[in-house]
Amino acid sequence: MENFSFYSPTCFVFGKDTESQAGELVRRFGGSKVLIHYGGGSVVRSGLLERVKKSLDDASIPYELLGGVKPNPRSSLVYEGIELCRKEKIDFVLAVGGGSVIDSSKAIAAGTVYDGDFWDFYSGKLIEEALPIGTILTIAAAGSEGSPDSVITKEEGMYKRGATGDAIRPKFSILNPALTQTLPAFQSAAGITDIMAHLYERYLTNTKEVEVTDRLIEALLLTMKHEGPRVIADPDNYDARANIMWAGMMAHNNSCGVGRSQDWNSHDIEHELSALYDCAHGAGLAVTMPAVFTYVMEHDVMRFAQVAVRVWGCSMDFAHPEVTAKAGIEAFRSFLISIGMPKNFDELGAKEEDIPKLVETLCRGNGRDGSLHGFVELDESDCTKIYQMMVF
Ligand code: NZQ
Ligand code: ZN
Repeated sequence: MENFSFYSPTCFVFGKDTESQAGELVRRFGGSKVLIHYGGGSVVRSGLLERVKKSLDDASIPYELLGGVKPNPRSSLVYEGIELCRKEKIDFVLAVGGGSVIDSSKAIAAGTVYDGDFWDFYSGKLIEEALPIGTILTIAAAGSEGSPDSVITKEEGMYKRGATGDAIRPKFSILNPALTQTLPAFQSAAGITDIMAHLYERYLTNTKEVEVTDRLIEALLLTMKHEGPRVIADPDNYDARANIMWAGMMAHNNSCGVGRSQDWNSHDIEHELSALYDCAHGAGLAVTMPAVFTYVMEHDVMRFAQVAVRVWGCSMDFAHPEVTAKAGIEAFRSFLISIGMPKNFDELGAKEEDIPKLVETLCRGNGRDGSLHGFVELDESDCTKIYQMMVF
C-alpha cells in the first residue's frame, strides 16, 4: 500500500425528511447568505425546492436562486453564478439536485473567490479556496456529494474536464433516499452504472497488497449487483434506494481508493462521449467500460479474474485465467444491459465517423499530452481501437 493522506470532513445527514434540516445546517457551517443552485426543474416539480426555501426561511437565512443547470453542466452558467455570488455577497452555495448541480455549485464556489478565470481549475490548477458548499442530493450516481471533484463542460471546444481540491468537498450533504424515488428508470440505471464505474476505476490498480480496499470495493460492487435490479423493478423501494445512495457516496469519497494507484481511463474516454452527444454519463460508461476492460485485460489478467470470481460468481479456470477474466467482463456487460443501459455506439447515439474527432479532443484537447495515464498508458492509436470496439 502507498502512503496517503485522507481528509474527508463532510457531515452526512442521512434519511427521511432530512432536507428540513437545511437551514440549521447552513447556519452551523457559517452561511449567512445562500445561493440555492438547481437544475432543469425536477426539484420544482417534486416540491423539494419549496421545502428547502422554507427551511432557510425558518432559520432566517436569506437566499438567491439560480436554476437551469443542465446534465453535463456548462461553463456559461458557472460564469453567471460567479457574478451573482459576487454581486449579492453570497457566502454559502447550496446545491439541490444531482451531480451536475453539485459540480456547477462547486465551480461557482471556487470561481467566486478566485481572481482569474475559473476554467484554470479545469486545466490542472488545484482548488485551494472556495465558498463553503452544502448539498441536497436527488440522484445516487456521481458521488459528488462526498468528493473533492467537479466536472464541467466548456462550450468553446466542448471540453469536458475535471477539477479537484479538498476546498470543494461539501461541508454537509443531506442524503434522503426517498428523494430519488421520482427518478425515471433510465436515470436510476445510469446512476447505478456510474457508481460501479467509480469502484472499477479504483479496483484497476498497479499497486500490490491492497487487500482492504480490494475487499471494500468488492463489497460495494456486490451491493450494487444486488440492489440495482431491485430499484429498477420497484422504484419506491426505500431500503434498496438507501443502500444504493450510501454505496454511491462510499464509492467516490475515496475511502476505498486510498493508498493505491487508480485508473480513470474509462471516465476520460466517456467524458468525450457525454460532451459531444450530451448523453447521460452513466450510459456512456456502460458502453465504454466493457470495451476498455477487454482492451487492457492482458495487462493484469489475475486482477480481472479476481473480480470475476469474487463479484460475478465466475468459476476460476486455473489453466486459462484469461477465460475467467473475460467471463467477468461479459457478466458485467450483461448486468448493465439488464438494467436498461445501452451496449454500443448506436444505442448511445454516437457515430463511428466522429472517432477521429473524439480521439483528438481526448488525447490532445485542453493541454493533454497525447496519452491517457491510467491503469494502462493509452495513446491515440489505443483510444481509436477502443472507440472502434464500441461499434458492433
Ligand atoms: O435537471 P433536473 O430537472 O433536476 O433533472 C435531472 C437530470 O435531467 C434528473 N434528476 C435528478 N434527480 C432527479 C431527477 N429527475 C427526477 N427525480 C429526481 N430525484 O436526472 C438527470 C441527470 O442529473 P445529473 O445531475 O446530470 O446526474 P448525475 O448525478 O449522474 O451527474 C452527472 C454529472 O456528474 C459528473 C458527470 O460527468 C456528469 O456531468 N461526474 C461528477 C463527478 C464528481 N463531481 O465527483 C464524478 C463522476 O464520475 C462524474 O464524472
Ligand atoms: Zn463517474
